Amino acid sequence: MALKKWFVAVGVMVIAVAAGVGAYLYAGFYDIGADTPHWPITHQVMESTRTRAVLRQARDIQLPSNLNDAQLIMKGAGQYDAMCVNCHLAPGLENSEIRAGLYPQPPNLSTHQMDPKATFWVTKHGIKMSGMPAWGLTHDDETIWSMVAFINKLPHMNPQQYQEMVAKAAPHDAMPGPDAHGHSPAANSGSGKGHGHNHSHGAHSHGAKKPGAHAHN
Ligand code: HEC
Repeated sequence: MALKKWFVAVGVMVIAVAAGVGAYLYAGFYDIGADTPHWPITHQVMESTRTRAVLRQARDIQLPSNLNDAQLIMKGAGQYDAMCVNCHLAPGLENSEIRAGLYPQPPNLSTHQMDPKATFWVTKHGIKMSGMPAWGLTHDDETIWSMVAFINKLPHMNPQQYQEMVAKAAPHDAMPGPDAHGHSPAANSGSGKGHGHNHSHGAHSHGAKKPGAHAHN
């Protein structure tokens, strides 16, 4: 009998707490702003959910055999500089305008050695409610692997090597559109040489503080 009463009391309490939380959220009191950090418990739950999910879901991905291929890495350099650098930085690029306000803040991939399988999975599928897009919706696997190959080398590059590689890389194959390729006059010249400065930046990274090599910054 005493036990039954105890169960009822716990049940009532659980319902009351759930109703309270529901009312609080429904009334709009939750601070959804990206400029207020999570409670430590929320942060911890989300962080380990992400880590565990990526670990599991990337586990069976087959690494291609050409991840060290210079052509593939070069292709990835162009992609990375066009689509990722503002959020994920590069050697010599320590901050950007968008980064400070992102929560969670994107990791600096130029200092952070990633597991290639995890890089592939996250790049392809993105991460919910974080600002990390699912690039697989607009890019095929081969293109994503080129970024993985490049990101794999990124922590070992210095600013000059980064700039050189990006300058030589073919422009990224953007979505078809009016100015998809317009920003990169070197595109079809075939040589890629003699373009020490970097034309393709204007369109994409105006918020980023680039290191030296840059006439218009
Ligand atoms: C608008 C900003 C933004 C852009 C652009 C962006 N990312 Fe991200 N990315 C994020 C954020 C934010 C996270 C962290 C998500 C989290 O911690 O839950 C992230 C996480 C990642 C991770 C996982 C890192 C880790 O430590 O687990 C990889 C890999 C990654 N991004 C690759 C890329 C690539 C490749 C591109 C370009 C094709 C790209 N991202 C473009 C915001 C961005």
